[in-house]
Parts: sequence; structure tokens; C-alpha cells
Amino acid sequence: MNTITLNIYRFNKETVSPSILQPFTLSYSNEETLLDLLMRVLYEFDSTLAFDKNCRIGLCGSCRLKVNGKVMLACSENVAKLVSEFGNELEITPYNCTKVVRDLIVEPQFENCSEIEVK
Ligand code: FES
Repeated sequence: MNTITLNIYRFNKETVSPSILQPFTLSYSNEETLLDLLMRVLYEFDSTLAFDKNCRIGLCGSCRLKVNGKVMLACSENVAKLVSEFGNELEITPYNCTKVVRDLIVEPQFENCSEIEVK
């Protein structure tokens, strides 16, 4: 059985506690995506883990995060492929650490909305 450790960024904007990387070690199969593992952490280890997801097919971008500093879509990343690239310990952080609301959830950015003309 293959195992992996996800060191997941934990933070809550509403509390004053500092952010931490919390390790979760779990088994994985060759078919699972990183989003599958985050869902398993949520249901099997810690029901307070917060992250976004929507389409689960790589279209909406809501599951965007960083793996060892590289921005990726969790639903599109095969875990076995990540292990072959980075080893079996991954650092999972928000894609933008300055706008974190909670754990891996980031405030939406609408900086280009002023350019949209509504008629
Ligand atoms: S959940 Fe939509 S891109 Fe991953």
C-alpha cells in the first residue's frame, strides 16, 4: 500500500492563531486525484478542513492551490504522478497566501471587473 503525507496549510481569519502546516498521512491508489485525498482528509481525519471545489473536471478553477509552491488544480492532479515528481511528502498551500479566508480558501479576486462594461 502506498502512503503519502500531505502537509496542509491551516488558518482561520476569524481567530488570531498563527497559520500552521498540519500533516495528514494516508494511503492512496494510482487512480486518485489530489482532490480525492483532500476529500478523504475531510471525511476521515478532520471535518474542519476547508477547501473549494466545484466542477471536479478541471474547468471552474475553484480547487486551485499550490503543491510544493507550484499552482495546480487539485481535481486534475493524479497523486501517483505528484509522488513521482515531488516524493511522498507534499506541502499543500493556498494559491495566494495574502488573501486566505480559511485553510485553502482564498478571497475571490475581481480586480478586472472595472474593465467590464455592463449595458
Ligand atoms: S473543481 Fe473545478 S477545476 Fe477543480
